[in-house]
Formats: sequence, C-alpha cells, structure tokens
Amino acid sequence: MSIAFAQDAVSAQAAALQADALAGLSGAQKTLPCKWLYDSEGSRLFEAITRLPEYYPTRTEMRILEESGGEIAEAIGTGAAVIEFGPGDGAKAVQLLGALEAPAAYLPVDIAPEWLEAAAARVSAAFPALRVRPVVADFTLPFELAGRAAGSRTHLGFFPGSTIGNFEPRDAVAFLRRARASLRPGARMLLGADLVKDTAVLEAAYDDAAGVTAAFDLNLLSRLNREAGADFDLGAFRHEARWNPELERIEMHLVAQRAQSVELGGRRFRFAAGESIHTESSHKYRPERLSALAASAGWQPRRMWTDPEALFSVWLLEA
Ligand code: AVJ
Repeated sequence: MSIAFAQDAVSAQAAALQADALAGLSGAQKTLPCKWLYDSEGSRLFEAITRLPEYYPTRTEMRILEESGGEIAEAIGTGAAVIEFGPGDGAKAVQLLGALEAPAAYLPVDIAPEWLEAAAARVSAAFPALRVRPVVADFTLPFELAGRAAGSRTHLGFFPGSTIGNFEPRDAVAFLRRARASLRPGARMLLGADLVKDTAVLEAAYDDAAGVTAAFDLNLLSRLNREAGADFDLGAFRHEARWNPELERIEMHLVAQRAQSVELGGRRFRFAAGESIHTESSHKYRPERLSALAASAGWQPRRMWTDPEALFSVWLLEA
C-alpha cells in the first residue's frame, strides 16, 4: 500500500515538473521554478554550497545566531514554541534552541517528510527532553498547528537562510501574511534576510570558483532529462549569476552556448545562441525595504541583528 502510494506521489511530481517546464519554457524569457533545483542530488549540492568560501550567507547567519544568541533569547522571552518553516538539516534550530530560555516545543514544518525526519532527529538528539512535533505541510499555504504547541507562551516562527529572498517581493508579503495566520495572535517571527552588498561579492557567492553552484544549476537540466522526458545537451548550457540592480536580486541563468532546440514532453523549444533559462532569483534586502515589506504583511519589526561586515540580517518581528 505505502509503496503504491509513493509511486503515485512520484508520478504526480513528475507530471507537475513537466507542466511547470512546459509553461516556463514557453514564455519570452524562459524560466523554471527554483523549487525543482532540490532533488536529492540538488540538495546534496546545496549542502556543499553552504560550505564554499564564497558563499557567506549560511555561516554568517549561524555566526549572528551564536554571537547575538543572548540578546535574541532575551528579546523572545521564556517558553516559546519554535515553528520552523523549511528546517533543512535542523542545524540552525539547534543553535537557536540552545540559546532560548526554556523553549516549550520545536515544530518543523515541511512538505518533504524525509527532511522533517532529519531535522527532528537532530534536534531531539541535542535536546532529548524537548517536545518535537514535525508538521507535514506546504508552509507557503495556511496550515494547522492544532495542539502541537500546547503549553507554550508564544509562537515563534523561524524562517532562516534568506529563503524569503527566493520569493518575488509580493509573494514574500503573501507568505508572511499567511505565516501570521498560521501562528497564534501575538506571535513573533525570527527571519533571516540577506543584505544588498558589493556586486562582486554577490556574484562570486552564486558562481563559485569550484563550480559547485554551476553543477547545482545544471542539475535542473539532468532532472528534466530524467524525469520529464527532455533531451537537453548539458554541455551546451553554461551557468551564469547576474546581479539585477533594478530588482536588487541575484539571478541564476542557464545560457545556451549555441543555437539549438530541445524536446520536452513531445514539444520542441528553440534557443538562440546566448538565450537563457532563468532558474532562480535571490532577492537581497536593504534594512528599510525589509522592514517595510514585513510591516505591509502585518509584522512589526522589533529588532535587527547583523554581523560586523553587515553581510546578513536576522530580524525579530511581532504580529
Ligand atoms: C536556499 C534560497 C537561501 O538564494 O542563497 C544558493 C539558494 N542558490 N546558491 C540562496 C542558492 C544558489 C539559496 N537559498
């Protein structure tokens, strides 16, 4: 039974991937949703990215959580239930929970049960007495916490990693509004957001010398070949990271190295030489813009912590 169900889930996923690809490759600017970057190979490559010398966000945010942990804990108070949106491997939650005073519970929320398991296991191993209750849900939609955070004084949403940057700004507002609706009135949110900085630093972070980010980006084409019946020639596309100064975001593009056509799901897509597929946007925020964005979603900014070089920001918001 469970195997049949898993098979259905796999083919539903393949159908969704193919539908997204058909739609994305049909526009004037070809595009693919960045969520498809994270199959098991993509997740492994992203892990490797977080350890690259050029990729400062992960280690900088971790450092802020370490160095400002006391102040963060004080601002949040005792007995909070931590609800993490997309917990990854749970390492940041361990850091935060270790700093907080008597946290009441840890509730990781993710659509992928295997990620949830990994995060929950890591947190439980670090804090055996803590109540850990994974929630399988798409955190971009409203979800129910039911009794999972019983006994807590406040709900603390936790959305680290600057994942907020992957949303278009209006979708980021919609996400923050829905997150507020999923949490108890008076909830807080600890939000990580990457800051606008020198273009060379940004472009290097998204196009590293070792080529790991390029492999991460190109893996999307192997995935389309494997799962969506495409015939991309991987050698004919090159990864590029572009700073878009108007929209203040890094864009990842896969650029066709020559004119070619590609078949996908029985349709043919033409590429001119130099034409690209836009695969991800990573928005960077100036503090005043982030605080305006949060406020328009009904969250009042209370505190902001940064690192000595002002590379990254961690915000405490209040509903
Ligand atoms: C997972 C969204 C935080 O935008 O920095 C890293 C993804 N893409 N390198 C980011 C990513 C290329 C990452 N986030």
